[in-house]
Amino acid sequence: MISLADKVALITGASRGIGAATARLFAQAGARGIVINYHANRDAAEAVREDCIAFGADAIVVRADVAKVSSVRAMVGKTVSRYGRLDIVVANAGIWKGAPIEEMSEAQWDETIDTNLKSVYATCSAAAAHMLSQGSGRIITVSSTAGQRGEAFHSHYAASKGGIISLTKALAAELGPRGIFVNSVAPGWVDTDMSAEPLASRAERRKIMSLIPLQRVATAEEIAGPILFLASDLSNGMTGEILNVNCGSVLCG
Ligand SMILES: NC(=O)c1ccc[n+]([C@@H]2O[C@H](COP(=O)([O-])OP(=O)(O)OC[C@H]3O[C@@H](n4cnc5c(N)ncnc54)[C@H](OP(=O)(O)O)[C@@H]3O)[C@@H](O)[C@H]2O)c1
Repeated sequence: MISLADKVALITGASRGIGAATARLFAQAGARGIVINYHANRDAAEAVREDCIAFGADAIVVRADVAKVSSVRAMVGKTVSRYGRLDIVVANAGIWKGAPIEEMSEAQWDETIDTNLKSVYATCSAAAAHMLSQGSGRIITVSSTAGQRGEAFHSHYAASKGGIISLTKALAAELGPRGIFVNSVAPGWVDTDMSAEPLASRAERRKIMSLIPLQRVATAEEIAGPILFLASDLSNGMTGEILNVNCGSVLCG
């Protein structure tokens, strides 16, 4: 029923966590070609590639630092030269590092904004150039509850994710008339390497769970499912949407 047959997808930050789960799910949904972007973890990206191939997709791994516009442009160029088109982009790569505002250095601010937000500009800009010439395409950004209600001691992260939400809406309005859908998935806590440290602390975990109606964090696969929905024809009536996937946690914020 849900199918990505014949589609070519590029997923940033697909060596681990949500991006890796998305790549595997896209392969299971019949995608023809999958570009698995990584930055530091080539072996992990190769393992995701092998899984995608086992599900019947063609897949390649491409190293690119999403914080660098030229690096992202080169990756999108490689995708189009290999597959001849680009149907789906998931702008997922990101980092989450804490810093109190009074101690936050310019370098810390820039690293988070560049990796999480400038990267989405770079990815959408390079992808849109190809999608506009095709007259079709789907962009899914990965934002966060932090971009909706803020996050203490992670103000740069919250600002980057709030920026992604506005960017998603702006691009939906700009690109919709020309056949390109732009939506976002906004996860709450997800069980990945990114959140491993706070979730490993019993006290932190108890605090986190007290704010989640389902009393658990989501799995990476539970975020990949809604991303697949937004990448598929089943979401044809949606653009500019921010889809919350947070086990109910925005109800408590
Ligand atoms: N986990 C959560 O609780 C949570 C909650 C809300 C939103 N999110 C968002 O969901 C997205 C994915 O998070 P995750 O939990 O899956 O994180 P993760 O497990 O830490 O994985 C992060 C991914 O991003 C890649 N990456 C990091 N910096 C990069 C760069 N400069 N260039 C290219 N790739 C880069 C990593 O690649 P390498 O391993 O190759 O370096 C890795 O594949 C992020 O945007 C995050 O903000 C996560």
